[in-house]
Amino acid sequence: MENMELPPRPKLFDFHGVSMTHYFTDNWENIQNFQARPDDILIATYPKAGTTWVSYILDLLYFGQTAPERQTSLPIYERVPFLESDFHIIPPGTELADKLSTSPRLIKTHLPVQLVPKSFWEQNCRVVYVARNAKDNAVSYFHFDRMNKADPEPGDWNNFLQRFMDGKMVFGPWYDHVTGWWERTQTHSKLHYVFYEDMIEDTGRELDRLCSFLGLSPSAEEKERVRGGVQFDTMKKNSMANYSTVPIMDFKISPFMRKGKVGDWKNHFTVAQSEQFDEDYKKKMKNTTVQFRTVV
Ligand code: A3P
Repeated sequence: MENMELPPRPKLFDFHGVSMTHYFTDNWENIQNFQARPDDILIATYPKAGTTWVSYILDLLYFGQTAPERQTSLPIYERVPFLESDFHIIPPGTELADKLSTSPRLIKTHLPVQLVPKSFWEQNCRVVYVARNAKDNAVSYFHFDRMNKADPEPGDWNNFLQRFMDGKMVFGPWYDHVTGWWERTQTHSKLHYVFYEDMIEDTGRELDRLCSFLGLSPSAEEKERVRGGVQFDTMKKNSMANYSTVPIMDFKISPFMRKGKVGDWKNHFTVAQSEQFDEDYKKKMKNTTVQFRTVV
């Protein structure tokens, strides 16, 4: 795999009103017809909001003790299939999910809420949504697109930021994504909305909230084991969690587990960019009650 020739970076196009690349639409029929099971847990996020972190937490909570061999043999993207992905180098996410023999199945998606296959709602599945403040999310997405050859070229930071504000990103505008999922908490009671900043501030507290949502009651010892296993530095060193086995990512440009902080945006935004961003943010977010913190 290491010396494989990579295809050219994909182009963005409009798909049901959302910017996408073919990697997430090639398998669309199977995605829309995907049959969820009542105990499936959907981990939904805008890209770079903390998907891998929460996926790893859930995997450890459910399988850390019952299937310890998973921890050393299966990368996180095989344990938690990426539903809409079809990268052609591994089977599409729907197929990987269908093949999972675990219960519950943990399934990842970046789809905006309106594009999620209807069976997840019909089956009343639990959903964990992770959201991250727009500025840090944009910075993390920028570095990810520099190193991830399966996304369009990010260009320079200034252009990327403008594109982020324009919503011309894979999976569409951040603003619509976080607010669309936030509104869904009103009608889908089995949706747990988590903030990346809260997880950074107090991982143990968020772990407790997550367990209570999932109906799990791990011992204090087990919780501590999970909390320790999902710390940034521990996950960064763990080849089963840090994506170092993925050939389309160039870690020489930027590692997947990059900084894992709140407030790195201050190292990227100029004062003028920040002011312009805030002004635009107020307009785009004026009709929602969801509130983000850009510092903790
Ligand atoms: P940075 O690029 O800011 O470092 P996703 O999994 O949705 O792609 O999100 C990746 C982002 O989450 C990266 O952010 C990554 O470092 C961060 N992340 C992953 N695991 C983490 C952890 N255990 N603690 C804090 N941040 C984590």
